[in-house]
Amino acid sequence: MLLPLGEADGGSRPSVVWSFCDIESLNLPRIIGHRGAAARAPENTLAGFRAAKALGCDWVEFDVRLTVDGALVVCHDDTLNRTTDGKGRISELPLAALRELDAGRWFTAAFAGEHIPTLREVLCLCAELGLGANVEIKAEYGRGPATATAVAACLDRFTGQLSPILISSFLADAVAEAAALMPAIPRGMLWRRLPRGWARTAERLGCATIHLGEAGLTETVTAQIVAAGYPLLAYTVNNAARAQQLFGWRVTSVFSDAPDIILATEPGAGARRGVNL
Ligand code: G3P
Ligand code: MG
Repeated sequence: MLLPLGEADGGSRPSVVWSFCDIESLNLPRIIGHRGAAARAPENTLAGFRAAKALGCDWVEFDVRLTVDGALVVCHDDTLNRTTDGKGRISELPLAALRELDAGRWFTAAFAGEHIPTLREVLCLCAELGLGANVEIKAEYGRGPATATAVAACLDRFTGQLSPILISSFLADAVAEAAALMPAIPRGMLWRRLPRGWARTAERLGCATIHLGEAGLTETVTAQIVAAGYPLLAYTVNNAARAQQLFGWRVTSVFSDAPDIILATEPGAGARRGVNL
């Protein structure tokens, strides 16, 4: 399912015309590839998103951050140290410097040459592969709104087709900015654990979904969210039995680093076995 976009209308506000973006239209799947398929290929790389697709995912989740010169790159950590051959903070480096780094070799030599992708590159690949995209906004303190603004500008400049998009963040100010600038794009609030006052926050921000850490997630908490009418998405679930328990509680989707493990226990799994990456 792709969302057709209109051309610029000459106004100063977002020029993209979204044909529809209600949560039902997103058709969220039960399994979403986490950072691509982080246990199978280097996280948040184009190879990782291709791997997720090859494993049978219909959607992927990834993390976006701002560089010092205002570009949006897809990377989980605030520093380069763990997932590239570089060092330093992404927020203090320009895009050109980040593009020289290898973001695949740390995982295995077979992925050497992968680079840190831009948000635009990832959205283009998702559209090409027919992958829905959960764009998680990451930012250092105080930079959430600016990051959401840059995401809105990136989407606004997009021409052609985009896959279905769901925005999320642990940062309420980023979600609020997304609501202001991209009201037609569904958004969800992310929490490790459900906080007091969650329903007020979700309502104030116009959230379509709630995203929670799976560790410590109980049937009672799940029931509260389901009763309030929100699809619940749980991260990060790499155990098939736990995934099936969560689905039994009416969790809508789980984010998984190893989506193949969960997909193998899904109805109709036989047809998906034997995929080569
Ligand atoms: O969006 C779900 C999950 O990715 C949130 O945690 O730290 O893996 O980005 P994290
Ligand atoms: Mg994430």
